[in-house]
Order: sequence, then C-alpha cells, then structure tokens
Amino acid sequence: MRNLLVAGNWKMNGSGAANSALVEAVVAGRPAASSVELLVCPPFPYLAAVAAALKGSGITLGAQTVSEYDKGAYTGEVSAAMLRDIGCDAVIVGHSERRALYGETSEAVAAKFAAALAAGLLPILCVGETLTDREAGNTEAVVDEQLDAVLNTAGADGIRQAVIAYEPVWAIGTGKTASPEQAQEVHRHIRSRIAGYDAGVAAAVQILYGGSVKGDNAEGLFSMPDIDGGLIGGASLKADDFLAIAEAATRVRGS
Ligand code: PGA
Repeated sequence: MRNLLVAGNWKMNGSGAANSALVEAVVAGRPAASSVELLVCPPFPYLAAVAAALKGSGITLGAQTVSEYDKGAYTGEVSAAMLRDIGCDAVIVGHSERRALYGETSEAVAAKFAAALAAGLLPILCVGETLTDREAGNTEAVVDEQLDAVLNTAGADGIRQAVIAYEPVWAIGTGKTASPEQAQEVHRHIRSRIAGYDAGVAAAVQILYGGSVKGDNAEGLFSMPDIDGGLIGGASLKADDFLAIAEAATRVRGS
C-alpha cells in the first residue's frame, strides 16, 4: 500500500521568524505514523534555516521551483545542485502559478523535472486544468498534455522517482475543493495514463490532490483509492491547520 504524503507549499509567505516558528511547531506536532510522510516547501531564502530545523525529524524539505539549467548566466535562478547542496530533497515543478504567471510551458516543466532528477531531487510534478478547460470537457486532455511532456522525455522511469500532484486550478486558493469523487476520477485517469507506459510505476507512484485542502475535507479526499495525500497551500501556513491534515492522513492510513 502506498504511503500518504502531506506536503506544504508555503508559496511567497512568512518571514525568518514566522517560518522558524512554523517549522518548529510542525516538527513538534508531527504524527508518529510511519505510513504518513510530511514535506515542507519554504521560499528560497529560508531553505537553509528550515533544513537545520528539520534535522532528525523525518520531515522532507522541498523547494518551490528550480532552474532547468545547471549553472551560468541565468540571473535570479537557482539550480537543482544548489538545492541539494543546502539540504533539499524535493522540488515542486510545474505548479499552476508558475505555468500561468511565469509562462512555464510543459516543455520547460519537463526540463526542470529532468534537472531535478539529475541532481537527485524528488520532483513533485503539478498538473491540473482551469475552470474553462473543465467546463469545455477538456480536463483529461489538459492533464494528458502536461503529463506526456514529462513521460515522453523522462519516461516511466522518471515518474518512478517522482510524485504527481493533481491540482485543479479552479480549486487553488479559492476555497472550492474538488469533491473526493471528482478528484478520484482524475487521479484514476492519471494512474491509467501512466500505466500505458509502465503498470508497475503507475501502481507505485504517489498522486497527491491539491486545491483548498483543509483539516475538515482531507479525510474524505485521502480515503479515495487513488489519492495518496495532498499538496497544501493556505492551510500549510498555520501549524495547527497543517497538522490537522496530517492527523486526517493518519486516521486514513494509520500506524
Ligand atoms: P491551496 O493551494 O491549498 O491554498 O488551495 C494549493 C497549492 O497551490 O498547492
């Protein structure tokens, strides 16, 4: 059975003091269940401090994006090797905010995915449709295009070393969550798409749901057969809210 993963995407929030307090409270309150994994993704400037605070906690550290390039004249960018160097084990690639606000194409996301893998980082690949896509009946086509860009370059072997996050854009930060059934339908589709490349990888890969996950809706979502945890934005910024989601995961997949 796949472990559940509860990952916090802090986005561009907090300060040195606030983020130290947040990570300390998360470490202190983390569930004991070994089948529930936790991960936090602070903004770049706080990664090193959070890495130190997480030492020995079993909680994984991730960044929110990464350059597709190794090094050189790319002002403002951060390489995968640099992230490894300061203690990151994971990185989010292709978050919908990066795709929509910074013009990241699926090809660029695939290149970032490859750069992360090459440096030994766990890529958390985000896919998801907008409301317009959904209403036009294009959810699966959009998700397939985003997935295939990675599957056709990194292959199923790449996905074997990654986590997928299905995040319908219309549910992110809006308070509108996909129902467990709506999310499950897309998660099942994603798993079957991957199975077209490699059935073993499809069965093993963790597929997270993201989009207004809270303590009171997490259990319903995580109980679905193809939902293996959540990528949490707003509710990851308060330790109690984030830990309530981790507790929900423990109720679903305890011990
Ligand atoms: P949200 O964000 O939980 O605030 O909806 C999720 C995400 O963007 O990863």
